Amino acid sequence: MDRRNHTSFYEFLLLGFSEIPEQRPLLLGLFLAMYMVTVVGNLLIILAISSDLQLHTPMYLFLANLSFSDIGFISTIVPKMLDNISSGIKLISYLGCLTQLYFFGLFADLDNFLLAVMALDRYVAISHPLHYTTIMNSQRCVLLVAGSWVITAFHALVHTLLVTRLSFCGPNIIPHFFCDLVPLLKLACSSTYINDLVLTFVAGSLLIGPFVCILTSYFYIALAILRIDSLKGKRKAFSNCTSHLSVVSLFYSTAIGVYLCPPSTYSGGKDRVFSVMYTVVTPMLNPFIYSLRNRDMKGALEKLLRRILKLFLRTCKTLD
Ligand SMILES: *[C@@H]1O[C@H](CO)[C@@H](O)[C@H](O)[C@H]1NC(C)=O
Repeated sequence: MDRRNHTSFYEFLLLGFSEIPEQRPLLLGLFLAMYMVTVVGNLLIILAISSDLQLHTPMYLFLANLSFSDIGFISTIVPKMLDNISSGIKLISYLGCLTQLYFFGLFADLDNFLLAVMALDRYVAISHPLHYTTIMNSQRCVLLVAGSWVITAFHALVHTLLVTRLSFCGPNIIPHFFCDLVPLLKLACSSTYINDLVLTFVAGSLLIGPFVCILTSYFYIALAILRIDSLKGKRKAFSNCTSHLSVVSLFYSTAIGVYLCPPSTYSGGKDRVFSVMYTVVTPMLNPFIYSLRNRDMKGALEKLLRRILKLFLRTCKTLD
């Protein structure tokens, strides 16, 4: 209890970037623009899918979930970052830090799980096309999505609660642009043995599990495509999963990029900008990958935009 009272007054210093005041407007504009594009793009995807009954298939419902998770993911990082850049004050409260830690863990993990679920869905669609609707029935879809939510929410909670056990005795400088688990553990002055243990085994397996699921699914997808005789059939089957494959490659290549070159090892601020871009770019590009490559999605988006425009014009008329 003593320690809790003590730590609740802590603040952490987020050493993001913008060490040079002249760069601030540029960074602010850049990240604000990326944030807006991400939120609007993903919101349009969710609305387009939920308003078009033709798109109420597992693949698109999973995609809507991914878009939702992407909005959550970027919203835990960028608004606080914009606030810090614009005010020049880089502090975050203890509670704010824990909140960021929890939601970052939750949404990053959820993205990972949903990508695995989507890979599984593509595998069933390509390898068992005749039984697709019975295997991927709506009950099972809800179960997969709900399961992903429960596991990731619980997992993020475990890490966050384990951090509350720690005491911090300063200087509480996080060489990162948001409260991430690993830099936070390095600051603790009490033992982080249990945290490290949980991080290695639980987080390790929860990250690797979905990845292995994706790799296995694509292995069988590749086998199934190779077994198709005609070139046309091969191409058609392959085009069934190109959007998902692009998103998966983007997600893992950026994740590996950030993981292998964590910002704390950088000397210059410029590299840190790249590392944030990685985290921000993936959720931003997902809607574009899906909507530009996919005719059904394009049609649904067009319909949605036309409807929004009509509504807008009608409200303008009534205001006149
Ligand atoms: C997420 O997926 C579930 C199960 O397929 C679906 O019922 C739900 O509508 C989806 N959520 C969103 C935001 O589209």
